[in-house]
Amino acid sequence: MMGVMRLGRVEVRVTDFKQSIDYYSNVMGLQLMAQENGRAYFKAWDEDDHHSLILVEADHPGLVHVGFKVRREEELDRFEKALEEYGVRVGRVSKGERLAEGQAIRFTLPTGQVMELYHEIERPGNGLKLNPDPYPANLKGIAPPHLDHLLISGDDVKGTTDLLMNVLDFHMSEQVILQEELTATFLFRTNTTHDIAVIKGPDAKLHHFAFALNSWDDVLRAGDWLARNNIAHDEGPTRHGVTRGLTIYFFDPSGNRNEVFSGGYAPGPDFIPVTWTEERFFTRGIFYHRGESNERFSTVFT
Ligand SMILES: [Fe+2]
Repeated sequence: MMGVMRLGRVEVRVTDFKQSIDYYSNVMGLQLMAQENGRAYFKAWDEDDHHSLILVEADHPGLVHVGFKVRREEELDRFEKALEEYGVRVGRVSKGERLAEGQAIRFTLPTGQVMELYHEIERPGNGLKLNPDPYPANLKGIAPPHLDHLLISGDDVKGTTDLLMNVLDFHMSEQVILQEELTATFLFRTNTTHDIAVIKGPDAKLHHFAFALNSWDDVLRAGDWLARNNIAHDEGPTRHGVTRGLTIYFFDPSGNRNEVFSGGYAPGPDFIPVTWTEERFFTRGIFYHRGESNERFSTVFT
C-alpha cells in the first residue's frame, strides 16, 4: 500500500500537565514514553511507534496538530507537490523538532486544523514480536490497543473533505447532509469506518479523539473504570447509528473530549458511502438507541 497509512498522532494542549499525565497513564492506561521540553509522549500498548499522543501544557485545551503516517519517506515530496498544486501552502518540520520524530510536512486544512504527514519515527515496538503472549502483563486502566480516529470541526466541511479525498486519497464511509448542506463526513485510509471525521462547527477545533477497543465488553469495562475514577462523562456506553460503532465519550482533566470506540464495519476503497439526512440523523444517527444527544455533545469543542 502506498500513500497515507493511518492516523499516527495527535498533539493536544492540556491545562494541568501533571494531572493529565496521571490521567492518560492510569485512567486511559497509555504508556508514558518520555517527558521533554514541556511535552509528554504516550503510546498505546499495541502500537509499534514511539508515540501516538503528545501532551503540551497551555492555558486552554485543544488540538495542536494531527499527524498521519505515510508508507514511505519519499512520499512526503510527492504529497508536498500535490498539495501545493492544489493551492495549499506547505511547510516542513525538521527531524528532531519533537522527540523521536523524523521530518514532516505541515499544512492547514480548510477547517483550520494543522495537519502533518510523516514517515519516520522511532519504533520501540509493542514487545510482542517473538513467541509472544497475546497482550503484555502490565496493562492498567482502560488500556486501548491503539489510537483510532479524531473528529474535527469547522465551517468548510466540503473543503477539508475534498482536500483529504482528492489529494491524500481518503475514502468516504458516511456523510451527513442536512437541508442539502454537507454537514459531516467520515473518511478512512485504513479498513475502518473512519480515521478522521469532519463536522460543521467552530473553525480549527477538536470535537474528540478516540482510542480503539476490541469489543463491547471492553467498552462496558471502560465505562466501569471511568465511573470508578469519577471521570467527567459525556455519553454512552451506547451505539452510533453513523458507523454502527460502540462508544463512550468522556473528558480528560483539561476538558478535551476522549472516546473509546469499538466495532463498526470494514469498508474497502470501493465502499458506497452511507448518507444520513435530517429525517434520521438526530434520532438514530448520532446515538442509535435513545436518539438526540445531550446539548453538551453538540456544543463543546476544544
Ligand atoms: Fe468518534
